[in-house]
This record gives sequence, C-alpha cells and structure tokens, in this order.
Amino acid sequence: MTELGALPTPSLLLDRPRAERNAARIGERVRTLGARLRPHIKTHKCIEVARLQTAGHGGGITVSTLAEARAFAAHGFRDITYAVPIEPGKFAAVVALVASGVRLALITDDAGVPGPLAEAARRAGVTLEVFIKVDCGYHRCGVGPKGHALVELAQRIGERSSLRFAGILTHAGHSYHARGAAAISAVAREERDVMCAAAARLRAAGIEVPAVSVGSTPTAVHVDHLRGVDEVRAGNYVFFDLTQAALGNCTPDDTVLSVLASVVHRDLARRQVVLDAGAIAMSKDRGPVEFVPDAGYGRLVDLDGTDLGLTLTALSQEHGVVRAADDTQLAALAALTVGTRVRILVNHSCLTAAQHGEYVVHDGRAVVDRWAIHRGW
Ligand SMILES: Cc1ncc(COP(=O)(O)O)c(C=O)c1O
Repeated sequence: MTELGALPTPSLLLDRPRAERNAARIGERVRTLGARLRPHIKTHKCIEVARLQTAGHGGGITVSTLAEARAFAAHGFRDITYAVPIEPGKFAAVVALVASGVRLALITDDAGVPGPLAEAARRAGVTLEVFIKVDCGYHRCGVGPKGHALVELAQRIGERSSLRFAGILTHAGHSYHARGAAAISAVAREERDVMCAAAARLRAAGIEVPAVSVGSTPTAVHVDHLRGVDEVRAGNYVFFDLTQAALGNCTPDDTVLSVLASVVHRDLARRQVVLDAGAIAMSKDRGPVEFVPDAGYGRLVDLDGTDLGLTLTALSQEHGVVRAADDTQLAALAALTVGTRVRILVNHSCLTAAQHGEYVVHDGRAVVDRWAIHRGW
C-alpha cells in the first residue's frame, strides 16, 4: 500500500474519513431541518464525493459548468440544476442534454431570455425547467425580491409551453463577509426570509412556486430553521477549508484537502524555505484576509496533520515561499531540510481542487484511492 510520503509532489490529498464525516453531518442537518440537499459539486467536480453527499437525499446535484453537467450525467446523476444564469450561446448544449434524458434546470434573471430559450426548446421538442435567480443580499446576480421584475419574469416563463417555471433560487454569497455565529446566522435568516417572502408574493399573484432553493455553506451550517425552503445547495462543506474555519463554520480539523509538497530550498540566513507547490498547485486565493490579514496562502502541517506553526507567505508559479516571522518559526524551518515532505492546508478548497486532475485519497498516512476531477466548461 502506498504511503503519503512516497507520492510525487505536488499532489492533492483528500482525507476520506473527514469528507465522509462532513457529508454525513450536513446531510443530516439539512434533513432534520426538513429540506432536500442538492449539493453544489463545483467544489470538488468528483463523482465519488458527490455520491457521499447525495446519499439519502435523492441524488439531485447543482453544477456551475455544462462540462460538469455532462460528466455527472454520464455517471448516473440525472437531476441537475445549472446554477449560473443561462445565455443564448449555451442553449444548444442545454437542449442536447435535456433531449438525452437529463433533468437539467436552468436559472435566469433576465426578461430577454425566456422567449429565445422557449423557441430553442420548442424546436428541439423538449421542455426546459427554469428557476428565477433572486438577489437575497449578495448583489452578484438576481432580480430584486420586492420589484415587479420577479412577477413579470415568472409570468413570462409560465406563458411559454416549452418552459416550466421551476421556482426561485438564491445564493447568500455575502455570508462569506460575515464572521462568527451571530453574524452568519443573520445572513442565513435573511437568505431564507427574503426567499419565503418572494415566494409568497408570487403565490399571491396566482403563480405556483414548485421550489424555493437556497444555499451556501456558511448559511447551511448556521441557519436556525428552514420552514418554507425546499432545497439547500451548499457544496463547500464537504471539504471545508481555512477560510471556513476562520469564519467560524468549521474547525481546522474538519478540513479535507491538503497539498503534499517537498522542500526544494532552505536558507536559514534569509529565514525561509521554498516548497515545490506554487500558485498552480494552490491557487492564489488569499483566503480569510478580510478577517485574518496575515493568512498567507495556506498552513503547513506534517504528514500526520500536526500543525507546524508555519504559513505559506508568497507564491510564484511553481514555488511556494515560507518565511519565518519570529524565532519560533525559524526553529520550525530549521527542521525542513531539502526533500522533506509537508502538507499545506488550503485557503479555498474549490479553487485549489480546480487546479488538479485527481485527488489522492488517504486515510491517515495510507493512500486508499484516486478519484478523478472533471474540469472544463
Ligand atoms: C449559485 C450557487 N449556489 C450554491 C453555491 C454553494 O455555496 P458554498 O460554496 O458556500 O457551499 C454557490 C457557491 O458559489 C453558488 O454560486
């Protein structure tokens, strides 16, 4: 059996017991709160991880690219929501997926979309399910929950025979700018309450709302109840990461991904070592810098996961620099001779995973499997 220390570096490691624990914990939480989980698989793009997440939840998933939709459909995931607003350049691809028997729900917040989308569906002889994206406070995409556009868009979708109004969908991305239980709980209540009020407005206008869909990891961890919500599309929770730990959504012991790296240079006079994991292996995500200014690009642990008290301080393409800020860190650096292997806990698991082609799955120091990552657009 291969041992972690024998792997080539850099390698992306996935701690299987932790992923199983996170999947079970949030799966159970959402079930207890009375909603379905439709996990966002963009975090991992991995069939095996999605199977862990959907166990006991009906098998529906959320994707952020059509390449993910195609890859997961080919592996038996036939109930998919594509949660990036649809645009005409992708109509042919979504129609082809639906014609092949996949349930692929789309989202829009644009009054110009339903007409041409309906026409593309009609020509192909398929019916497309369409959610309206609602802005619950993140201000990235979505119609306002209180304006006329919401009701008008629902009517526009509903009057097309080749479209079916699937409901309303939101993502509380602003939960990533909240830290601590009280602040995140407030965003979670906002996400839920804004959506319940929007659904009530549509129903008052005589429009049936088949589903109210919400979802982010911080709000899924902290929401107090989900009455009025049908599904939760959290995704990151299956891996968590140092950003989630800094916000208060998990502990560092819940984080699943690390990048295995080797020391390639050591200069104690300069108080630094260099690893063979740079921006390509880690991503350049600066993590919780809004709350932790010296977060760096990742945190070093040994092969058993013990914290070394060191941070990845700078990145270039294939180099990761670890500089000692004090004498305790300098003493830790002294042990890192060239060739030493370390693991780096990641700031943002979704972006680090997207840099790699596969996960090396481990349980303790033992490599137990390899799982593919399905990238692309
Ligand atoms: C539309 C949408 N839904 C759900 C999610 C999942 O949220 P999280 O990554 O916090 O689990 C995201 C994440 O970006 C998203 O953009």
